[in-house]
Amino acid sequence: MINQMNQAERERLAKVGKVFNARTYIMNEIKAIRAQVGDKKVLLAMSGGVDSSVCAVLLHKAIGKQLTCVFVDHGCMRLDEAKEVKRVFKGQFGINLIQVDAEARFLSKAKGITDPELKRKCIGGEFISVFEEEAKKLGRIEFLGQGTIYPDIIESGVGGNKAVKAHHNVGGLPKNIGFEGLVEPVKYLYKDEVRKVGKLLGIPEPMVMRQPFPGPGLAVRCLGELTKEKLDILRQADFVFRSEMAKAKLDRKAQQFFAIMTNVKSVGVKNGARTFGYVIALRAIATSQFVKAGVVELPFKFVTAVAEKIATTVKGVNRVVWDITPKPPATIEWE
Ligand code: XMP
Repeated sequence: MINQMNQAERERLAKVGKVFNARTYIMNEIKAIRAQVGDKKVLLAMSGGVDSSVCAVLLHKAIGKQLTCVFVDHGCMRLDEAKEVKRVFKGQFGINLIQVDAEARFLSKAKGITDPELKRKCIGGEFISVFEEEAKKLGRIEFLGQGTIYPDIIESGVGGNKAVKAHHNVGGLPKNIGFEGLVEPVKYLYKDEVRKVGKLLGIPEPMVMRQPFPGPGLAVRCLGELTKEKLDILRQADFVFRSEMAKAKLDRKAQQFFAIMTNVKSVGVKNGARTFGYVIALRAIATSQFVKAGVVELPFKFVTAVAEKIATTVKGVNRVVWDITPKPPATIEWE
């Protein structure tokens, strides 16, 4: 039986055991991090998502000030995300955190790119460059921390599995990265296990239960070329959707819910005059492991009210559609 498992599954079993226990995992991982890192330094790529947040606190617990976190605002973050990350991780946990405003740099690099895989690779590559530059500024930093989780590995085609998408966390490191190695303390965990670890580490409940946010951020939800105009529209629409979900207490019904900038424009009417605005799509999914996902049924009255609010209050949008496709055949993100 065990011989039939691929290598990634064997490694997961060795790390996590047959029955997952968050306390044991944390204890073992702290020991493993200390053994790997010693008195050297770690630079962690923080994306603002659950995985890298848990990774940051786990590393901080293991090695304290030997950890430096770098949060890169690549211009594809949600509304006020950068401020929130600073408040919690720097303010509350006292983690050594550097924020880099790299919006202009990322947008100029991604200019003209419309292919989803090329966009992902461009952003992943730029991430690495920014971290390398930060590392250089900070002097010698031996390790690069990453919040890779198990589904990232499976879906990137590691361990004999077929590649679905090029997740930026996996396989994207150039040979000349300049770091001695990688520290990936949540690499063998599924999302629900990452949350259990985060909760036990004392990360506030809303943060631990926060919906996952992909490394490339809104880039995988903004179809076609990435522009500031489209991303700003998407940010506003996404904010309205998330706020309304929270107000209606529907946010715990879906593991992920977000807006997508479809890059399609359609004709509408406002104050009796013709408009030509963007179509925003909304998606709310239910899933346990993010490998398969179903569509969450939300009250129709709520759905139409949110659609109307977005189409009337977000400048540049005049139509909203709802994504009712499960995974598979669709993936959760649009790109
Ligand atoms: P998909 O779209 O592949 O998403 O069905 C599965 C889960 O993974 C998240 N996701 C990513 N997370 N880097 C990440 O850290 C990525 O490049 C990435 N792409 C997708 C997605 O939000 C969902 O939770």
